[in-house]
Amino acid sequence: MAEKKNTLFDRPGGYAMPTGATARQREAAADLANAGAANQIRLLGDQMDPHQPASLGTITPAYTLADPQTEVFVGDCRDILPALPEWANGKVDLIFADPPFNWDVPYDEWADGMPWVDYERFTYDWLDACISALAPTGSLWVNIPDDTAAEIVLHLKRRGLTMINWCVWHFRFGQHRTGSFIMSKVHALYFVMEPLERTWNPEGVLEPSDRAAVYGDARTQAKDEHKGLRVPMDVWYGKNWGRVQGNNKERRPQHHNQIPEVYLERVIRSCSNEGDIVLDPFLGSGTTCTIARELKRRSIGIEYGSANAKSAFERIQQGAVRVKYDEPTRESSTIFPERVTQPRRRRGTSDSKSS
Ligand SMILES: C[S@@+](CC[C@H](N)C(=O)[O-])C[C@H]1O[C@@H](n2cnc3c(N)ncnc32)[C@H](O)[C@@H]1O
Repeated sequence: MAEKKNTLFDRPGGYAMPTGATARQREAAADLANAGAANQIRLLGDQMDPHQPASLGTITPAYTLADPQTEVFVGDCRDILPALPEWANGKVDLIFADPPFNWDVPYDEWADGMPWVDYERFTYDWLDACISALAPTGSLWVNIPDDTAAEIVLHLKRRGLTMINWCVWHFRFGQHRTGSFIMSKVHALYFVMEPLERTWNPEGVLEPSDRAAVYGDARTQAKDEHKGLRVPMDVWYGKNWGRVQGNNKERRPQHHNQIPEVYLERVIRSCSNEGDIVLDPFLGSGTTCTIARELKRRSIGIEYGSANAKSAFERIQQGAVRVKYDEPTRESSTIFPERVTQPRRRRGTSDSKSS
């Protein structure tokens, strides 16, 4: 007997899944949040005391630009986030966080080699400060490698946030090694406070579909809207998506782990509107504020190192290299060359014989 296909799909605000699985997930999410609130989910970093934010009073940005409002603060994001000015505190629409990975990278002033238990505590502290800064409709994106992804997902779930996508940024220029498979990805975790209230703009990030770019499928051009286009898949790669290094024209000297402009374009266009507040607690070379500005969003960047912050601000003033407001970047991510479809040959006819 033919297998009965489950055609009931429902995941409000997220990717499609069978309704049964969705219902189970919702229960699990509620259970996790309840257990988190009751302090029943213990992670390694929980054994350390939480960071006590410094009493900073009224904080002043080190650098500002107007229209759209752009502010760069120098300091520890665990101290700056709770002290954000009134126009932003609890009102941030989108946070993009690309923290130090604890890989001993020589970041300006930040020491990137803590005992792991301290690093986990640090991670939960900045995540909690971000959650408090978000608007109820806000989104939180975290760029993180394999080492800490699982802990971050669990922490955000125990704090009651909902995961919309677990994206993967795939790059082709991983560092050579022979003892294990070459690392060629970082996780891009997309969480929200309220799945049904979140800002989501697929139109801003559509890309050519494989149907259009590879197969020349006429049906995709016959659609009422988004002809030949699709929402990108959750594995991100392609032209201009490589690691920013060497002679890449986006490259900023003295900055480590710089994120490609198109990555921030995708996050900011899809999860915020013009005039919204975008925040980056680990500003680095300034990618987030640079792209936010190009896309007419207000933004706040926080950076621990004062030289990094100065350099980031210079970049924000200069503007983006690839991303501009008028033209969404719409590169096909197909991995196959275009195929020319040949008309089918009939069996037994002369044109079906091999020559
Ligand atoms: C991975 S880099 C961010 C790179 C950035 N996404 C870019 O595209 O250039 C992390 C940055 O966070 C900064 N940082 C580390 N700890 C910090 C903290 N507690 N508060 C604020 N900034 C911090 C480091 O100095 C470094 O510049």
